[in-house]
Amino acid sequence: MRLGILTGGGDCPGLNAAIRAAVRHGDAERGSTFVGFRDGWRGVLEDRAEELTDDDVRGILPRGGTILGTSGAQPHRLPGGPERVREAIAEHRLDGFLVIGGEGTIGAALHLDDVPIVGVPKTIDNDVRGTDASIGFHTAAQIATDLVDRLYSTAESHNRVMVCEVMGRHAGWIGYTAGVAAGADVILLPEHPFDIELVCRRIREVHAVRRPFSIVVVSEGAVPLDGTMVVPDYPVDENGFPRLGGIGALVADEIGRQTRYETRVTVLGHVQRGGSPSSFDRVLATRLARAAVDGAAAGLWGSLVGLHGQDIGTTPITEVAAGSRTVPEELWKIPEVLCS
Ligand code: F6P
Repeated sequence: MRLGILTGGGDCPGLNAAIRAAVRHGDAERGSTFVGFRDGWRGVLEDRAEELTDDDVRGILPRGGTILGTSGAQPHRLPGGPERVREAIAEHRLDGFLVIGGEGTIGAALHLDDVPIVGVPKTIDNDVRGTDASIGFHTAAQIATDLVDRLYSTAESHNRVMVCEVMGRHAGWIGYTAGVAAGADVILLPEHPFDIELVCRRIREVHAVRRPFSIVVVSEGAVPLDGTMVVPDYPVDENGFPRLGGIGALVADEIGRQTRYETRVTVLGHVQRGGSPSSFDRVLATRLARAAVDGAAAGLWGSLVGLHGQDIGTTPITEVAAGSRTVPEELWKIPEVLCS
C-alpha cells in the first residue's frame, strides 16, 4: 500500500512516535510506502509532500512536536478543498491517508466522503471519542501535575491563593487529573459552570481550618454560572475557533476581591504541549500507529483506532465526530473541591 500521513491540530508529545511506528511497521511488515504531508491538511491542499522512509524516522521517538509540522486546516472549510484532496490521492498514487489528529482534523473526514482515511487520536485535551486516551494527554497531565506541585511551596511561603490555568477546551481532563493528583483545593472544569461565591467560601474554609494558603486549578474552558461574572468574548483564530485563555486571571481577581487574600495567577499554556513524551504516550502512539497501518491494510477506512481498556480497537469516525469525550460526572463530582 501507499499511504499519505499527516499530523493536524495542536501539536503534542508523541506525534513523532506515531509517525515512526507507522513508517517502521508499514515498511517492515506490510510492504507499505509513505508520503508525509507537511502541516496537516494544508500540505495536502498545497501539495507539500515528501516520501518518508525508515531513515527519516530514525531517532524521533523521544522528540516532542511533529517532524511533519501541523495546522488546524480543514479541507471542507476552504474553496475547492475536498477536490484538491482527491487530486492529491491520484497524483501521489495513494491508497488512503493516516490522519493523526484531534476532533477537528479527524472530523474533517466526514466531509471527504470518498476519501479513504484511518484516524489516530491525539490531543492533550483527551477529548476524542472512541479511545480511552489520546496521544499526548498523559504527558501533558504529568507536566501540569508537576507544575501545580511546584506552586505549593510558593503558596505556602507567602500564604497566598495560587490560581493555575491549564489547557482543556471542552473537556477538563488535564485540570481534573492535575488537580486531583496535586491535591488542589478547588478544581474548575468546562463540564460544569462554577459558582464564584462557592469558590471563595471554599477558599475561606481552607484558610481558616486547614492552612493559610490554597491552590485553585482552572481549565481554560471553565465557565462561570450565568450572570455571576463577566467573561469577555474570546478572539477567534484563523480556523474559526475561539482562542481561549484568561479565565484564570478573572477567577484570581475575583477571589482576591472577595476574600482579601493575596492571590496570584499562573497560566501554564503551551509548556503543557512541549517536550518529550512520557513512556505511556510513546507506547500508546506506537500501538495506535501500528494498528492504523493494519487497519488500512484491512480496508477499515472511515475508522479511528483507539485504546479500549487494555486493547486497541476501532470506532467509526461518524461516531467519533458526534461529540466530545468529556470528564464524566462520577469522576468530577468530588464535593469538597468542585465549586458548582
Ligand atoms: O486542543 C488542544 C489545545 O491545547 C487546547 O487545549 C487549547 O485551547 C488549544 O489547543 C490552543 O492551541 P493553539 O494555541 O495552538 O491554537
